[in-house]
Amino acid sequence: MSAIELYHEESGQGTPVVFLHGFPFNHHLWDAQRAALSSDYRVITPDLRGHGESPAPNGPYSMDEMADDIIALLDRLGIEQAVWAGHSMGGYILMAALRRAPQRIRAAIWIATHAQADPPQRQITRRESAERALKNGSGDIAFGMMPVLFSPSVEGKSPLAQRIYEMMVKTPPAGVAGALYGMAARPSSIDSLRGLNIPALVIGGTEDQLVKRELIEELAALIPQTTLDWIDGAGHLPMIEKPDETTAALRRFLRSTAR
Ligand code: MLT
Repeated sequence: MSAIELYHEESGQGTPVVFLHGFPFNHHLWDAQRAALSSDYRVITPDLRGHGESPAPNGPYSMDEMADDIIALLDRLGIEQAVWAGHSMGGYILMAALRRAPQRIRAAIWIATHAQADPPQRQITRRESAERALKNGSGDIAFGMMPVLFSPSVEGKSPLAQRIYEMMVKTPPAGVAGALYGMAARPSSIDSLRGLNIPALVIGGTEDQLVKRELIEELAALIPQTTLDWIDGAGHLPMIEKPDETTAALRRFLRSTAR
């Protein structure tokens, strides 16, 4: 399938930085970072295909296709090279983009993500979840993810948690299923990332229940020029749970690489 015209928001001027949200969220995941960083950078926050305001065709959505959507967006915006930041699934998409069009990526930022493919059992449960989303709607998947998204300090009924739940529920079932099928089929990125010659930042939440510490450390060790920053007390969504600390880590890295 050819690239899809993605919805996006953008603010600021300067070095372009494009932020790819994870599954099954949308560009609002980055609201705090867009507001803060747009004083110094051109911050672009798309909705990935199947998410937010972007079209949601039937899947599967391969990570390659989702990467091509971002490249097409940057083409439309007249941006040859950007810093790319990917959260979780957004990080898998960034890994695909580095294989497909490395010249478009000035520096890479990975948040709460890792380089491995899904083990076989995880592929099966992903496909089952995709079928469930198509049959029962996205609420089922959103409900199942809620207990593992946050650090223990975030109450399930808190406004912050409810905001994230509503964001996930709004993702159309075709988008949820398309992304799940695509993630199940993604290859390992270990070999393609190893030794990559690009400035990189890896951010992990110390309380992330979805991506284990070892996997985040493994990703950071693949690329020689990597800074690894831990956000203390954050779960899988450090940009939401600890927005200021996450923005500060991004700013430090951007200052060192993107001036
Ligand atoms: C995400 O946040 O994008 C997902 O948890 C990624 C995944 O399920 O592998």
